[in-house]
Parts: sequence; structure tokens; C-alpha cells
Amino acid sequence: MTATDVPRWTEHVDNPYLQGIHAPTTHETTAFELPVVSGEVPTDLFGAYVRNGPNQVFEPTNLYHWFDGDGMVHGVYFRDGAVSYRSRFVRTVGRDDEARAAASIWPGVMGPYDHSKPRHYLKDTANTDVIYHNGNLLALWYLCGTPYRLDPLTLDARGSEDFCGKLHTTVSAHPKVDERTGELVYFTLSDFEPPYMTYGVVSKDGALVHEVPIDLPGPRATHDITITENYSILHDFPFYHDAKLVKEHGYRVARFHRDEPSRFGVIPRRGGAGDVRWFEFEPGYVLHMVNAWEEGDWIVMDGCFEPDPSIRRNPEEGELASMLGYLRVRAHLRRWRMNLATGECREEALDDLNVEFPLPDTELYGVKTRYSYHQYLPEDMYTVEFRALVKYDHETGARTTYDYGEGWFASESPFARRLRGKDEDDGYVVTIVTHAKELRSECWVFAAKEIERGPIARVALPSRVPSGFHAKWVSGDRIWGQA
Ligand SMILES: [Fe+2]
Repeated sequence: MTATDVPRWTEHVDNPYLQGIHAPTTHETTAFELPVVSGEVPTDLFGAYVRNGPNQVFEPTNLYHWFDGDGMVHGVYFRDGAVSYRSRFVRTVGRDDEARAAASIWPGVMGPYDHSKPRHYLKDTANTDVIYHNGNLLALWYLCGTPYRLDPLTLDARGSEDFCGKLHTTVSAHPKVDERTGELVYFTLSDFEPPYMTYGVVSKDGALVHEVPIDLPGPRATHDITITENYSILHDFPFYHDAKLVKEHGYRVARFHRDEPSRFGVIPRRGGAGDVRWFEFEPGYVLHMVNAWEEGDWIVMDGCFEPDPSIRRNPEEGELASMLGYLRVRAHLRRWRMNLATGECREEALDDLNVEFPLPDTELYGVKTRYSYHQYLPEDMYTVEFRALVKYDHETGARTTYDYGEGWFASESPFARRLRGKDEDDGYVVTIVTHAKELRSECWVFAAKEIERGPIARVALPSRVPSGFHAKWVSGDRIWGQA
């Protein structure tokens, strides 16, 4: 079955990340009073599920990678049991340039790059994460780009974010907001010259108030950052590209340097460059951490660890082999501990299930969390498929799962506290699912305490939602004011 909302050019581009659940849509949609397919939408679910993802507009000039598509944000809004939906492209500078040219200008991450292109050798698509801070949604890019502001309700563009005129670098995809102070903590990377990492803090009211160069041995491919109440944790993994290859040959090829350690740098929230303390662990890579917190002198951090991030290329897959192999992630839950008094390091595997896209209650970033919600990735997946929802109880080690069922593939699934919810898991888990054959989408709501029961409400979405990257829950008081 071919969806009618797919760009015509996809018909003659042989790439699985432009087909089926991954195919881009040409639709920007607004719809109210969405029909409930089954169950009942809880009236104490108040807020919005927002998700970013790639949605390529023009036919690529070179090989297409799943990470290349133009950013599109989808929002599903819940209020008094009624549900509405919006989807909007992120109005990036690069997308505007290509709209004027009516064609792709930049090659994608698989290269080869042309360093004469405007601004950067790649297009900043802002397609990776979407977070809420200081009254705006911010759309962000994993290779470090301009944060783009969106209206949290309408998803209308509000221009780029420069943190009160003080941001002179880019920002990576996963800054963390500390809900107790309202601060946003971020890092950014540089490919070609030191500082290869810069660490920064933005105040509750949106002003950049702290910026520190971080001394790294070379360019890195760090993806995430973690916070505790008093510290931030910077990540340096031995899985990175060769800057010379990028500059001279126009390719960005990440290699696993298995003789080098994974390192975490602990810096006081507003510490200086000389305050970073580095802790060394087993080599590997982590795309996404679950959370981090302090326990006495210990920093404790949970994340999805890849013990062998080297790219498993299948030569039979031809010119797409590197991308397909890279995206077949093998990651499982791990805990790291760092003692600030003694320097002692400990690490342990917490499970062996292949999971990624972890989320705790994101309003509890930086303090101890008991629960997190992940996506199960089948070992035999051809392209990335979120096949089941997994809930971890980090206190007992128990996990519960819900298989989305034949043909259904989900999105990252945040926790949504219910109105007046008390316990850490007193609320819901929300996701968007798309059916691979029927090419239609629904929004599913789970009771967080019993995800294994399956969705307690299924709501039909008016447009197909392509597979995507990161999602968040934004509480209703930030969108509409107090309930
Ligand atoms: Fe990510």
C-alpha cells in the first residue's frame, strides 16, 4: 500500500528510510475532536505529547540517511477528555533556502560534503529533539545546531533562540531542564578546533549565564548530557570520527577505539574548566542516558550502553550498508557510579534486553527516579522499529513490557503525570503509533502503573505520522494555564 501523502520523488529513490513507516509526509495538519478508536481518554490527562522527527521535503542530492530529513514536530493535545492534533515543519534557515531553490542544497550525513555550502557542510534540520523551556518548545539537532522556537500550542514558528543574545555557539540535541531551578543545561561540539566541547547553562528566564570550554583530546560524537542537583555530567566515548576525513574527503565515519576508555566528566553546575573531574569506565558508547542523581558522595547514572558500537555493515546491502548497520543499535540498561570523595568508579549491567529511547518522568531529571520507559528494538530489525514498550523499576530490577502488536510501530513514549498524581508513576505513558501496512497512525495512552494491560485509550490521528526521534510530555498548565 502506498500512502497518498508521500512526496512523488520517493517513488524512484530506493531507500528503506523513505518507505513505509519511514516515508515522509507532505501534510501539515490541524484537527480537533479526534475520534476515539477504543477505550476512554482520561479527563485528568492534561497537556501535550510533542514529538520531533525527520521529514524530507526535496529529493536528496546524495545518499539519504534517516538522520537527514527536515524537522517536523507533531503535537497531540489532551484537555478534559478531548484530543486535538497538529503537525508543523520546523522553519529552519536551511529549509527556507531549499524552498526558494525548490531543491535540496546540502548533501546528507553520508556525504560527500561540500565545504563551500552556506553556514555548514550539512543542513541544520532541527529534527532530533523537542523540549519545553521558558514558554517555548525548542526544536534541536543532534549534530549541534540552532535551537528553533515553536509556540507550544499552535507549533507556529517563533524564530531561532539565542538566549537573550548571548548564544554564540550551537546547541546539541539533548539539553536538560532542571525543573527545580528552571535552568537549561547544554553542551555543544566543534569538529575542527578546540574547544571540542563547550558546556553552558541558561537561566530560568532564558538568558545564557554560564559558558565553559571543555578540554577534550579531539572531536567527539557525544550525544547526551546528564544533570544532578549540583553537577552536570559530560560524556566522552571512544566512538568518534576522524576530523581529517571530514575536512579533506567529505565523509564523517565514526570508529570504535576499543582500547580507549569511556569517560564521564563531572562539573559543578556553574563550575569552571578546571573543576571537571573525569572518571573512566569500560569502552563503549551511549546515545541516551535515563537519568542521574546524587547519593551522598556518589553520582549515580543509568543509561542504554552499547558495549560494541562498531558499525555492523552487511556488504550485501550495498551503498546503504553503513547507515543500515549503524542504526541496528545493540544497547542495554547499565548503571555507573562515581565517588566524588574517593574517585572510585563502579559499573554494572542492569538488564540484557535491547532497549533504547529511555525516558524517566522528565520533570525529575537530576533527582533519583525509580521508573523509566524504553523502546524495545528487535535484534533482527531491518530498519529501526520500536516494537514494544518496556517499563523498568530501577529499585526492584523488574521490567514489564507491552508488545505493540503485528504491524504497529511506536514513537518515544514519555510519562505524563495525571492531574493531582502523587506517586512517581501515577499517570500515563503516551505514544504515537503507525501501522506499517495500513499506513495510518493513532495516539495510544497507557496507564503507567500497568503498561502490560495495553493502551487504555486509542485515538485516531487524521494524518499518518512517519517514524521519528524524540518526544516529550508538556503539562497543560504550560500550554493553557492552570486546569
Ligand atoms: Fe537522541
